[in-house]
Amino acid sequence: MLALAYKNPSEYPIGFAAIVLLTDPVVVDIDAKRLQEALNAHDYGTNERREADLLRRFDVPEIPPLLTPAVLVDKAGVVLLWSLPEVLSSRFQDLMWEALNPIKAMLARSVADGTWRTAHDNFEWEDIQGCLNFSPAWFQQGRNTSASCPEVSAMLKARNPDQGGRSWLEQMMLPAAVLSAAMAVMHPNLYAAGREAVVRLYQDLAVPCADESAFAEMAETLRLWPSVFTAASVMVNRSTPFHRDHNSRVQWYNLLASVGLYHHAWFDVPTLGTACHYPPGSVVAVSGLLVRHGVAPTEGDRLCFASYMRDNVHQAVGVQRSDWASYHALPGLWAGKVLGC
Ligand SMILES: [Fe+2]
Repeated sequence: MLALAYKNPSEYPIGFAAIVLLTDPVVVDIDAKRLQEALNAHDYGTNERREADLLRRFDVPEIPPLLTPAVLVDKAGVVLLWSLPEVLSSRFQDLMWEALNPIKAMLARSVADGTWRTAHDNFEWEDIQGCLNFSPAWFQQGRNTSASCPEVSAMLKARNPDQGGRSWLEQMMLPAAVLSAAMAVMHPNLYAAGREAVVRLYQDLAVPCADESAFAEMAETLRLWPSVFTAASVMVNRSTPFHRDHNSRVQWYNLLASVGLYHHAWFDVPTLGTACHYPPGSVVAVSGLLVRHGVAPTEGDRLCFASYMRDNVHQAVGVQRSDWASYHALPGLWAGKVLGC
């Protein structure tokens, strides 16, 4: 049953729970809360000298590369990373890959000079490549979050002359919903906070203000949005230099699904002294701010679908912050909030 569930969890969402229940923790000799205190607002993970200093200060013994499902915890049992290699079936991966068809042109236009996330140098010049962000409710960069409201991201706006983003969203309904459900197992409190945020965005913000076109658009997009994560990025044939995800919180996870036809990929996590086997169909949940991470260029076609949350969006609708996930608390949370619901 486990083998069946492991190979085909997208057919059996409970498979995620079975894998997680039977995954022994790997203890990393690090204190997550002390590392959190050592990080400053400018630690984007791209300054090699600063990162070398952090590695000297938080010098963890090397752990052999992780080839099988694993959960990495700190000395106190704080969950830092879940690695589930080859967990997604080929049919599930095909759904995600085919959903790219309506956004191929958008992806091509996204490659530009600028940050490493869209810089030409980090793409592999395959037939399809690019990096796009999607959200039913987020704050534009630099916008004063106390004086404005979140809005639908540009790629999903009705006024965008290219409506491929909406078609992509419709086709991603099932994959995004299954990946979202996985978070209920890996970080139940974060799942609950994300769910509450999506419900409040719809019920308390978008619907009551729907006589304004921006909120009517948000309500319409939220009716299609299948995930407790309020934002997603699609990265196609892009390598990922080492970095930290600065718009997240150390206690929260980014959920990454890597699919396609490629070889020899590793999800490198120098902060934890190891790397995770990252073949097609892999899922990683990681504290992307606390744990510096990266993926080297791969041979073949690779899509990474990243799901994440924004604290300023949760704050805008009054959702209480989710805290760390404790490995030892998970069974109780599963019994009370996941398995018993
Ligand atoms: Fe990241």
